[in-house]
Amino acid sequence: MASLGVNIDHIATVRQARRTVEPDPVSYVLLAELGGADGITVHLREDRRHIQDRDVELLRQTVRSRLNLEMAATAEMAAVALRLRPDMVTLVPEKREEVTTEGGLDVAGQGAALADLVGRLQQEGIGVSLFVDPVAQQLEASQASGARWVELHTGAYADAAWSEQPRELARLCEASFIARSLGLRLNAGHGLNYQNVEPVAGIEGMEELNIGHSIVARALAVGLSQAVREMKALVQNPRRDPLFGSLQP
Ligand code: PXP
Repeated sequence: MASLGVNIDHIATVRQARRTVEPDPVSYVLLAELGGADGITVHLREDRRHIQDRDVELLRQTVRSRLNLEMAATAEMAAVALRLRPDMVTLVPEKREEVTTEGGLDVAGQGAALADLVGRLQQEGIGVSLFVDPVAQQLEASQASGARWVELHTGAYADAAWSEQPRELARLCEASFIARSLGLRLNAGHGLNYQNVEPVAGIEGMEELNIGHSIVARALAVGLSQAVREMKALVQNPRRDPLFGSLQP
């Protein structure tokens, strides 16, 4: 059964719209955990457009589940992670102009510098996950880097037209199978919502889904702990949709 990591970046997005002190993402963690969040995820971007350094510092002291820090593979961010010691670091690509993380990390194109960073973080007891597109070459390179986890980018599946979704889901299933065959542990995320999460939650060996935007959006209507509770129920008890059930390898 997959667990649920709740990404709270967009609570900070609302605060930063006014560069004020509210809403404070740190104080909403309690509600997310009350709703059943198994972990809290934040992305400290280089341009600090939502989450700020102070948020990560306070979250390190207050999160009672697990803290997953998404970050670019840079020296600046490595120093933050080594100082604050989140439970997990997820390395993601970052471009200043993008609205959100657009593609997976090109692990295959990065080589030794990335492996060195993965090794340094893991040596300090910080779990490392690499956010990659669901393709064999990136998974093989992830294994070669020494990372123990991958997070499959579910954006292509989430963005696909209804008629294309089964094909994108099949790609995720195949990539999950390859990842596990390589001995990698399996997370997934990006663009998952209350309509499309269940087939991904049902993939064999899926350990954690990281979900942010759709939960924060729903929280405007029902409140954060209820929004998390509803997502958790879907993640932990996904429907066996006949269209998707046959695609499992
Ligand atoms: N996983 C990673 C690596 C991400 O970069 C993001 C977006 O910050 C998410 C999961 C969550 O995506 P969403 O906000 O679309 O649920």
